[in-house]
Amino acid sequence: MKVIKAANYDELSRKAAQIIASVVWNNPRSVLGLATGSTPIGTYKELVRMNKEGDLDFSQVTTVNLDEYAGLDPANDQSYRYFMNDNLFNHINIDKNNTHVPNGLAADLAAEGARYDAFIDSLGGTDIQLLGIGHDGHIGFNEPDDVFYKATHEVKLDAMTIKANARFFASEEQVPRRAITMGMWAIMQSKKILLIASGDDKRDIVERSINGPVTPKVPASILQCHRDVTVIYTY
Ligand code: PGA
Repeated sequence: MKVIKAANYDELSRKAAQIIASVVWNNPRSVLGLATGSTPIGTYKELVRMNKEGDLDFSQVTTVNLDEYAGLDPANDQSYRYFMNDNLFNHINIDKNNTHVPNGLAADLAAEGARYDAFIDSLGGTDIQLLGIGHDGHIGFNEPDDVFYKATHEVKLDAMTIKANARFFASEEQVPRRAITMGMWAIMQSKKILLIASGDDKRDIVERSINGPVTPKVPASILQCHRDVTVIYTY
């Protein structure tokens, strides 16, 4: 595991964007695993800048996102599809048909999970997976549990996650209680993993994830078992 301390959020964002860009420079047909949340916003801004300045071409890139709320329409401005369009896809030369987010409106979320995993498999997996980390150690919406879930699956969000995400909604009551998330298979098969964490409130969970025991009680700790992980943090 490569652990990099950034001087501040802007430096974290630049470094993360450079790592993602280098994957695309190496292979213009890359498959990028992407994440939502406040942490990657600066990284996406940097990727947009590189694209606008002509240094990074997304025309042949495919993306797959980690997760989506259950029951939110993609047009809802709190959906993760909306977030991705708004923060990245609307501003770069990517073909939207090549951008994928789990369908949170699927009547059968288990079937949607199986479809999503089979689709990622058909792409040959992701070349890089970008991850944020929750205060409870979640990656995607894999919340602390007794086991690591392998497949893309439906989850019930933790009270801590609902509270943390309430800042994006008019009230805590409006935060969806369920979501669909990539499981550990789709995350861990990525050729490269990039985890970004910003803020003093993430210090403890990042330390536990990279130095503590590998346990589903700290979902991000599974990353210790992957051969190519970079963690960039600032706090
Ligand atoms: P944040 O979320 O980037 O908004 O802190 C991270 C996450 O919950 O994965």
